[in-house]
Amino acid sequence: MIITKPRIALDVLKERVTVAARSPLQDRPAAVAGVLADFVSDPQLLAGLDCPCCPDRYIRHLLHADPEGGFAMVALVWRPGQMSPIHAHHTWCALGVHRGTLTESFYARDETAPEPVTTATCLRRAGDISHGPADPNLIHRLANLGSADALSIHVYGVPYDKFGSDVNLVYAA
Ligand SMILES: [Fe+2]
Repeated sequence: MIITKPRIALDVLKERVTVAARSPLQDRPAAVAGVLADFVSDPQLLAGLDCPCCPDRYIRHLLHADPEGGFAMVALVWRPGQMSPIHAHHTWCALGVHRGTLTESFYARDETAPEPVTTATCLRRAGDISHGPADPNLIHRLANLGSADALSIHVYGVPYDKFGSDVNLVYAA
């Protein structure tokens, strides 16, 4: 008799994200975010994985690197008060909130101001998603303004070893 291990949700998520990340470029961010929406609020999704926070800054943990180098999926862990810089992306991106609540603010460039100005703010709660194409004018910041840790899952369209240079276009710290 062949006994097969039950497939855990994270494995299925990786498979479905891989399919979505091979869709036509203009459809890719929404397709990947749609997959995240189906999984990200499952409280058991990261069971058994250690994703500690960092006292100094938000921190990322690699969940999956596409063997073909088309994308990587990471968990970002945010302590209260931690936030990203104000940035756009050199690549497409998709995210979903696994636990906690993040505040996503959007910005527009203003040549008369020292840094981009806020145009909208949205609460992203567990199960919520967001996504966007590579666009220097799609400027945002994620922040944990709540009182509990938050964890979000992000997919970017570059290999993990290029995250330091090829993901964020930073406008302001
Ligand atoms: Fe971002």
